[in-house]
Amino acid sequence: MNATPGRRGLLEIPATPERVELGPVEEIPLGGGRTFVVGEEAVAVFRTRVGRLFATQAFCPHARGPLADGMIGGAAVLCPLHSFAFDLESGRCLTGGAAALRSYPVSVDADGQIQLEVPWSARRRPPSARTDKAARPDAPATAS
Ligand code: FES
Repeated sequence: MNATPGRRGLLEIPATPERVELGPVEEIPLGGGRTFVVGEEAVAVFRTRVGRLFATQAFCPHARGPLADGMIGGAAVLCPLHSFAFDLESGRCLTGGAAALRSYPVSVDADGQIQLEVPWSARRRPPSARTDKAARPDAPATAS
């Protein structure tokens, strides 16, 4: 990474995407989702019933519903709080009334590991990921 001095002596850090490994794809059930914390960003990864992966911001832009707990139909998710529907490919709110979701490129590598691309701006801490269970004090840590 190249950092160059900017105005007022601050370093300007280019927004270069970086891959973060989130663990085995089998840990997300078909038709389900899971929340990961990547740096300071909470990301929901969805696995559709036909095995497609999508990654978006973890919390609904309407009132912060936990999107990974929503129902998935095709390539859309229903927010569990007020049932707004979001297209997982574009992030667009299909029912209206909420902003589009931020989305992230996500894939599975040859070893079956989920690879998430996150911009530098989302990673103020070193790139690492933990599941939502690890973020709760009552759950065992499952850092990947
Ligand atoms: S919080 Fe998601 S629709 Fe209201």
